[in-house]
Amino acid sequence: MELRQHASIFLVGPMASGKTTLGKLLAKRLGLQFLDTDHEIEKKTGVSVRVIFEMEGEPAFRDRESKILETLSHQPSLVLATGGGAVLRPENRQILATRGLVIYLKPDIETQLKRTADDRKRPLLQNVDRRAFFQALQRTRDPLYQEVADVTVSVDNRPGKKMIEVMLSMLQRQEWITEE
Ligand code: S3P
Repeated sequence: MELRQHASIFLVGPMASGKTTLGKLLAKRLGLQFLDTDHEIEKKTGVSVRVIFEMEGEPAFRDRESKILETLSHQPSLVLATGGGAVLRPENRQILATRGLVIYLKPDIETQLKRTADDRKRPLLQNVDRRAFFQALQRTRDPLYQEVADVTVSVDNRPGKKMIEVMLSMLQRQEWITEE
């Protein structure tokens, strides 16, 4: 299978939508490289996203996120998973919308809650009512994900392999990928 027209795929969506897990599987199936903006930021700074939020604050993290997105979005043959808040800045949305095929992974709240039950790493999830927080984020960010997305995939608790089959057949139907 081969990706048509676009050199890279960008995965957008909220926390715990499966961007990393599904991104890795998708990259493997399409013969592309997988990268993750959060992971690249951590590699570059040598500290976790949580520590960056604590030491520098969210705006500084967003600056780092924009910078890494600007750089990686030029790299061809990539499946790039982006952080849940990467769509917040208009300049990031412009990059996403114009430099690749954007897939929006849209999970239901129950799936997000289940997957993050033991999460101690994500700074925004600590000490909040997670259900209310996920709902609030969905209200404010869903239109932003929709704005940049070429394809929207509903994500639930189905196993990753099953989700990939759903995604691939969707991409094939819409002629984003060709059987080679
Ligand atoms: C964030 C999502 C996180 C990470 C940071 C902020 C957000 O990425 O970038 O904690 O604002 O939704 P994941 O979506 O990969 O969890």
